[in-house]
Amino acid sequence: MSYNLLKGKKGIIFGALDENSIAWKTAERIHEEGGTFVLTNAPVAMRLGQIKDLAAKTGSEIIPADATSEEDLDNLVAKSMEILGGKIDFVLHAIGMSINVRKGRSYTDEKYDFTTKGWDVSALSFHKVLQSLYKADAMREWGSIVALTYMAAQRVFPDYNDMADNKAYLESVARSFGYFFGKEKNVRVNTISQSPTPTTAGQGVKGFDGFISYAEKMSPLGNATALECADYTVTLFSDLTRKVTMQNLFHDGGFSNTGVSQEVIERFTE
Ligand code: NAI
Repeated sequence: MSYNLLKGKKGIIFGALDENSIAWKTAERIHEEGGTFVLTNAPVAMRLGQIKDLAAKTGSEIIPADATSEEDLDNLVAKSMEILGGKIDFVLHAIGMSINVRKGRSYTDEKYDFTTKGWDVSALSFHKVLQSLYKADAMREWGSIVALTYMAAQRVFPDYNDMADNKAYLESVARSFGYFFGKEKNVRVNTISQSPTPTTAGQGVKGFDGFISYAEKMSPLGNATALECADYTVTLFSDLTRKVTMQNLFHDGGFSNTGVSQEVIERFTE
């Protein structure tokens, strides 16, 4: 169902790789709500992904950018304003990747070159995106910026590995930069802490199937899907949440506040 919540709003969407990506579903929902946007992803992901299909479907242009490159980001921000014909109302950062996870290195056996690269991609890139937008004065007043995170930033999930530290950093950047963006530009900056979701990045986590079923059984409302995350992001990009900023917002069916559920207890009393 469409409510025209984003009619006339313009934005940039990072991280749509394939149709399972949270950013992909968000792009589709934003399009339905009347928003227009530029799609961006790392040049290598463009070759692997199906982003062209999404661009055609939503009438969007694609600008490649490695989110760790300040030069790429400055170019992306300038070109997006040209294409969209003015300042930016919304930005979605949906980027994550741990090289330690990919290479099978555990948290107690990190290779620090991998750690640094994964942190740059998953966490520092958010600061770089914000700084590039800030310096170019690219955000329209009452605009909104969202990044995606996971609860391993607050609680231990052993196989989430160094991504837990990356997410803690990402959430801190949202708060710190949110202060300056709020004070000086009346722009919101928030993170959404999403349930486990079957995407390329999600399924890279060891034991993901167990992880997602456990969360499903623990959450009173069940896991939030990628489409539901897209819906929530639409509300944060809309004018209905103008005073929500510097928050880490749990979108997890109640998982984060549940100690144990009846279903999980029953598994242990069988
Ligand atoms: P995905 O694999 O579809 O998206 C990750 C994206 O990051 C890809 O499009 C990839 O190309 C992009 N990326 C990687 N390196 C990049 C770089 N250097 N520059 C620009 N883009 C780069 O997976 P998903 O799950 O949609 O991930 C989106 C966000 O949601 C991530 O931040 C992830 O950590 C977060 N998240 C995912 C959850 C899950 O269970 N899938 C749960 C909670 C948060």
